[in-house]
Amino acid sequence: MDGNGRWAKQKGKLRVFGHENGAKAVKQVVEGCAELDVKNLTLYAFSTENWKRPKLEVQTLMKLLISSLKKEIKTLHDNKIKLNAIGNLQALPTKVYSELMDVIEITKDNSKVTLTLALSYGSREELINTVKQISIKVKNNIISPEKIDELVINQHLYTQNLPDVDLLIRTGGEQRISNFLLWQIAYAELYFTNVFWPDFTKEHLYEAIINYQKRERRFGKTSEQLS
Ligand code: IPE
Ligand code: MG
Repeated sequence: MDGNGRWAKQKGKLRVFGHENGAKAVKQVVEGCAELDVKNLTLYAFSTENWKRPKLEVQTLMKLLISSLKKEIKTLHDNKIKLNAIGNLQALPTKVYSELMDVIEITKDNSKVTLTLALSYGSREELINTVKQISIKVKNNIISPEKIDELVINQHLYTQNLPDVDLLIRTGGEQRISNFLLWQIAYAELYFTNVFWPDFTKEHLYEAIINYQKRERRFGKTSEQLS
């Protein structure tokens, strides 16, 4: 979800204004996924690197997170959306963490859409954590090194209950991954748009999905093998 700051700047406003409007785009996209029966939506809301932003911006983002969770809990639950979070969640301020856990607990039995927020998330941090978890199990003879395969790694990532990414959308015009789900996007289709995140609507989501539907996903095979 990139481009909040530039969107605000274009309008002569503070970056915070962009983040506030970014929250509205989140609502659109969650609704869009529910309508299209997209089962999993993962939003890159705050990266491990975003902690390096000016203190005031970080504080505002954390406050916005708390207020959005409080405001949207009922809508999420009424629409059978299950909230999930990935990242180094312990690094979040206590208030954010506890609000997050409340919403996760309340929505845990919902199954229409799983909405995963990547918070204080960095793919390299996730991989380091994964290696540590597996190493501890190897050390304690719970897993033997020969048995380590893709499945074992998947089971130790923050995304352990989620399928691989099919479509990755990045708004805001930059064409890079920025430490997002590096393992999980191995065969994802990438879609970049210049639209700034606060301007991203349900229609833009449809456009991205239609574009995705026209692609041939070969997973290393030949076109002939697929047909
Ligand atoms: C994305 O918008 C939101 C977060 C990373 C929290 P940015 O804040 O990165 O906006 P730009 O890239 O400066 O326009
Ligand atoms: Mg940015």
